[in-house]
Amino acid sequence: MVMRLALDWTDYSLRTIKAQSKKVSDMQHLIVVAHPAKDSFTMGLTRSYAAELERLGHSQRTCDLYRMGFDPVLSAQELVPVDADHPARTDVAKAQDDIRAADVLTVIYPLWWMSMPAMMKGYIDRIFARGFAYESHNGVVRGLLSGKKAVLITISGAPLPLLVKSGNWNAVQVLQDTHVFRSAGFELLEHLHFDEVVPQLPKPVAEQHMVLVRSCAQRHFPAS
Ligand SMILES: Cc1cc2nc3c(=O)[nH]c(=O)nc-3n(C[C@H](O)[C@H](O)[C@H](O)COP(=O)(O)O)c2cc1C
Repeated sequence: MVMRLALDWTDYSLRTIKAQSKKVSDMQHLIVVAHPAKDSFTMGLTRSYAAELERLGHSQRTCDLYRMGFDPVLSAQELVPVDADHPARTDVAKAQDDIRAADVLTVIYPLWWMSMPAMMKGYIDRIFARGFAYESHNGVVRGLLSGKKAVLITISGAPLPLLVKSGNWNAVQVLQDTHVFRSAGFELLEHLHFDEVVPQLPKPVAEQHMVLVRSCAQRHFPAS
């Protein structure tokens, strides 16, 4: 079973209206993926999605955290607010520039312990930094990335009905969809989830999943 969650997020900010008025074909896509094995199902999905965006006439950049050797460990120095005397570290500044340049961020990862792999969590910890992705006053958080869209693609070994029944799926939606991506201001277009992805997945099933991930790109970013 594959679950698709269409998510409406109303944001009437000027930046959103400006982004919406952009032609779909003008959109810049940034894909961020975390999986250690290049030949994994997750990486296969990522390649299919990226290839489909390009086939539809869009430009995309894939940030493959493992292959680029991303450092997921947030250092004490990075907790100091960025200013002229404390500039952001080079890799953080570059990754933040990539997000600034993107209209759509697609984040792809397997669910490990119902959460993100540590590599992806480290990316969020370091790149979605205070002053870049959010600001907080008196405990009230405001996302700074409004106007941008996001697509979330996750994979699990367990069947989705089991995750729903146990409450785990609700936790994913609250803590990942909302607490991370919506809180940072993204309009979450869809959370596409592939469940029952086990080792030695039958080839026809894997191929059907590749069709579904391509249709996600077609649905939201049709060729103009
Ligand atoms: C460290 C680790 C933790 C995992 N935790 C979960 C989990 O909590 N729930 C679940 O359904 N699957 C879990 N899985 C299974 C993976 O989500 C799934 O099998 C895998 O991502 C399939 O995609 P892949 O072939 O690209 O790795 C875990 C796998 C690993 C390696």
